[in-house]
Amino acid sequence: MLSQQDLKQQAADAALALIEPMLTAQAVIGVGTGSTADLFIDGLAKYRGKFRGAVASSERSAKRLAGHGIAVLDLNEVETMPVYVDGADEINSQLHMIKGGGGALTREKIVASVAKQFVCIADESKLVDSLGRFPLPIEVLPIAREAVSRVARALGGQPVLREGFITDNGNQILDIHGLTITDAPELEKKLNNVPGVVTNGLFALSPADTALLATQQGVRRLG
Ligand code: A5P
Repeated sequence: MLSQQDLKQQAADAALALIEPMLTAQAVIGVGTGSTADLFIDGLAKYRGKFRGAVASSERSAKRLAGHGIAVLDLNEVETMPVYVDGADEINSQLHMIKGGGGALTREKIVASVAKQFVCIADESKLVDSLGRFPLPIEVLPIAREAVSRVARALGGQPVLREGFITDNGNQILDIHGLTITDAPELEKKLNNVPGVVTNGLFALSPADTALLATQQGVRRLG
């Protein structure tokens, strides 16, 4: 029986195998945040020097990349990336995701938007029939915390402030519990329009292109 850690490692290894042919002297790789992304970063270290560098979606991942001697580039210096690799907190069969458990959702969405494809890596426990059991993270400007909370309540959710946590962008996170998400792209759009919302953790308008989900029977590929 493989542990969850083994499964995360398998997903990270599968992503490394997938992106290996994309590693050219000019290639910049988009790198996500979280425990599965950390394993991907560690594996990427063996290709150091074979690609230009990486754009990180968080200070945490930037530090880990730099620790391996991988060049960390500012997104403003990069026009395109062949791929963005990141974990997820939940993913469904349409490859819609909830992300932001680590609080890095804003930079994740930005970096992913510049990459040609999004490869999601996770263990099979992240695959769900419908999104929403994992509380939906929303990054908010501090001034808008209560206003956004009221909107979340009106949508049927229970917002909880992530105490003692400030994002890399200096904002706060509301975790919205109890949402029934029937139309993820529509909800993502609706939340994007609430003043004071910086980013919501739904990745449904631009879902993953590929999911590599590690199971006890091997890595399952969706997309
Ligand atoms: C970070 O903000 C998140 O979006 C992560 O991608 C997500 O929490 C997955 O993390 P793990 O790989 O640690 O489960």
